[in-house]
Amino acid sequence: FKPQVYIKDLSRHVGEEVVIKGWLYNSRSSGKILFPQLRDGTGIVQCVVLKSAVSPEVWEALDHLGQESSLVVRGKVREDARAPGGYEIEVTDAEVVQAATGYPITPKEHGVEFLLDHRHLWIRSRRQHAILKVRHTVVRAVRDFLDQEGFILCDAPILTPAACEGTTTLFEVDYFEDEKAYLTQSGQLYNEATAAAFGRVYCFGPTFRAEKSKTRRHLTEFWMVEPEMAYATIDDVMELSERFLTAIVARVLDERREELKLLERDTAKLERIAPPFPRLHYDEAVRILQEGHERGALEDRFEWGGDFGAPDETYLSQQFEKPVMVHRFPAAVKAFYMARDPERPELALGVDVLAPEGYGEIIGGGERAASLEFLEEQIREHNLPREAFEWYLDLRRYGSVPHAGFGMGIERCVAWLCGIEHVRETIPFPRMLYRLRP
Ligand code: 4AD
Ligand code: MG
Repeated sequence: FKPQVYIKDLSRHVGEEVVIKGWLYNSRSSGKILFPQLRDGTGIVQCVVLKSAVSPEVWEALDHLGQESSLVVRGKVREDARAPGGYEIEVTDAEVVQAATGYPITPKEHGVEFLLDHRHLWIRSRRQHAILKVRHTVVRAVRDFLDQEGFILCDAPILTPAACEGTTTLFEVDYFEDEKAYLTQSGQLYNEATAAAFGRVYCFGPTFRAEKSKTRRHLTEFWMVEPEMAYATIDDVMELSERFLTAIVARVLDERREELKLLERDTAKLERIAPPFPRLHYDEAVRILQEGHERGALEDRFEWGGDFGAPDETYLSQQFEKPVMVHRFPAAVKAFYMARDPERPELALGVDVLAPEGYGEIIGGGERAASLEFLEEQIREHNLPREAFEWYLDLRRYGSVPHAGFGMGIERCVAWLCGIEHVRETIPFPRMLYRLRP
């Protein structure tokens, strides 16, 4: 049984005899003909088995074969406009590798908890396939864009001695005798060191937050890509975010049309994503939210000084067709490392990029504080352990420069591009509050 041909390549083998190695996706029979659908990871193809065209042993093995049995078939490729995918295999021989019975995920509707419990099998389905292929393309687009822009990949550690994004969402790990480590919340602090070494850098890896919130946007383990630039400001971050997101959207539209169609994504909305993106001062965002409350679209009145909740982000992002960049938040709601607006020191030079259609924040970043004295004070005020940050303070002692960067959560970006409700489907094995398995 060789050589193997992948289903995605069948168009190059019309009229030839090929071998397909895969799994049984679905099967129909009508007496002396079987129509098994085979999937091999690259696609799904319909096969036709005539009782008269195969040996009695092969017919016996294929008749009543259970869903997701593994099998290898040999047959001739025929072009057929009526067949799903446009091609059919006229089977001449087959070998069942393992006959499966009672596959739990049937074509009927299942509840989401059941599907999440069977995530190891659920990823075989068409919809999950489409989403995870979009993710694959997003990751490639992210890397290609940053590489082309001259960013050097310098990955940050996952086991860290200190918090980056506040102490309330830290996962603690026992690190040998008496030492505590934390799973990283963000590679940013290390990016600041590598940016001083290489100029433009990025890290890309899993990040962790012990989020107690059960929302459609929160995972406890998610993948973040974080570019950082030396000699850069908040304006450079906004300019980079704009081109970065535009490049990702264009790449997905170019390579994943079929998947977006299967997901019933309205691609016209993605076609509109191009610079410039609206830039919205926090003061202005507050005004829009308060108006929204007066119009009855938002339950609570948003007060100046607060951080956006999920309904606020949803409302704001619904007001624009493109991602909107909200900048200059009150420093009190942002992380300790943010630089201040020299004209209004109560404001931090941070920016959040909110994806349209109600998806909310997908990028967070900004300009970092460059002054040693200011950072020492912030570490005190945030009650952070000074000794764990000594190395970080060195970056302000030895050649401190204005620098800036951002982080984008891959899952939130994929959820937006796919137009799906929840981030849990955008990662092969989601980790959430109450979900550590499979
Ligand atoms: O806004 P955040 O917290 O920013 C940082 O971590 C910065 N240190 C990044 C930097 O400047 N280098 O997180 C950045 C992004 C968010 O915009 C969101 O897309 C994603 O990370 N994110 C999450 N995604 C899924 N689940 C969660 N619990 C997330 N928390 C943040
Ligand atoms: Mg944020």
